[in-house]
Amino acid sequence: MNKRLLNPFKPGAGHRPPYLAGRETETQGFSRLLKQSTILENMVLTGLRGVGKTVLLDAFKPIAQKEGWFWVGTDLSESASLNEENIAIRLLTDLSILTSPITIGQSQRRGIDFTSSPEIEEQKLDFQTLQQIYQNTPGLPIDKLKQVLEFVWSILKDIPDFKGIIFAYDEAQTMADHTDRDQYPLSLILDIFQSIQKKDIPFMLALTGLPTLFPKLVDARTYSERMFRVVFLDRLSDAAVRDAVEKPLEDHELKLSEQSIHQIIRLSDGYPYFIQYICREVYDLFIQQISTGAVPSVPASEIVRKLDSDFFSGRWAKATDRQRELLAVIAQLEGCDTEFSVQEVVEKSKDLLEKPFGSSHVNQMLCTLSDAGLVYKNRRGKYSFAVPLLGGFIKRQEIQEMV
Ligand SMILES: Nc1ncnc2c1ncn2[C@@H]1O[C@H](COP(=O)(O)OP(=O)(O)O)[C@@H](O)[C@H]1O
Ligand SMILES: [Mg+2]
Repeated sequence: MNKRLLNPFKPGAGHRPPYLAGRETETQGFSRLLKQSTILENMVLTGLRGVGKTVLLDAFKPIAQKEGWFWVGTDLSESASLNEENIAIRLLTDLSILTSPITIGQSQRRGIDFTSSPEIEEQKLDFQTLQQIYQNTPGLPIDKLKQVLEFVWSILKDIPDFKGIIFAYDEAQTMADHTDRDQYPLSLILDIFQSIQKKDIPFMLALTGLPTLFPKLVDARTYSERMFRVVFLDRLSDAAVRDAVEKPLEDHELKLSEQSIHQIIRLSDGYPYFIQYICREVYDLFIQQISTGAVPSVPASEIVRKLDSDFFSGRWAKATDRQRELLAVIAQLEGCDTEFSVQEVVEKSKDLLEKPFGSSHVNQMLCTLSDAGLVYKNRRGKYSFAVPLLGGFIKRQEIQEMV
């Protein structure tokens, strides 16, 4: 098959796009954080699902490495049930990937309690070694972890041009303290970094997650407010959408008309996942149409229908009838795609429904919908849809139900 005909667009969680458009301001912001020698600010990168957090975090990695930073970390999507011990092991595991090629001699081990016999000349700084230090340090997980991190720093700090380590964690909104079990893994992470950063150790946190992430950090530890610079990823500008669409096609014989590009800008509303999704569809279709000699055009309603069934309908199917009714009321609010208050929903439901919702009921239902990942509460106490373009989808459902 002609390589030029391979579809370059990649809708899918964490799939690197053929061209990463826009995000210059965010990248500059991140680069500024890299200039710190004493870490006063860590990064939180948040935004709705599909807005491009994971791929942007990936794009930051080489930038940081070029500046002399080491990069460790993982995806925390399964971390909801972690306890303090697990999160400590998580950090040690991530760190050991970086440190395991390093060998330490006897003198460097002085003052640290290793189980290995002292006559061993050299020891690798691998997971086992880190775990030994952890286990042999008395005290709470935080004391143990601090000892390990300080020790690693004492070894790494002599490496020429070494700036520090970035601990990058994706889907960090899944971290949680569990008061009922007396387990505080989230607070542990915050305390640990706060404490070592005070000692001038340049280990920086870069957390990404849904918009619930930052409020959650502040809930756990109020000092998080000052500890993080929050970057809120939003939809792309029209110019950036154009780049995302056109740049991957620069070497292709396929060119999109101005009208098609405008259609894509309108349909995607600048949301990266939708851009990739729509472009992938359009590309396949255009290739077919060109081979039959037809003049290609963007079949907007077909694409929207396909997107509805691929992206939205699964989430919609999980909502109860009464929840759908509430969501339909919200979709009629002018601000549904930005933010709305409980009061606005109550008022609107009086206009629209025979049995309107009371405010405590709305409150309670929004909480449930928030757990289901459909809405989230921002720090001003207002709500927003947690899924981009959900308002439009809900309105389309109503029209379908009416016919
Ligand atoms: N700046 C961008 N330009 C073009 N496509 C992008 C951009 N950011 C993300 N994408 C695409 O959007 C989709 C979602 O990105 P992802 O990083 O998984 O989002 P998130 O982590 O916020 O849910 C992927 O298909 C990715 O290729
Ligand atoms: Mg992601």
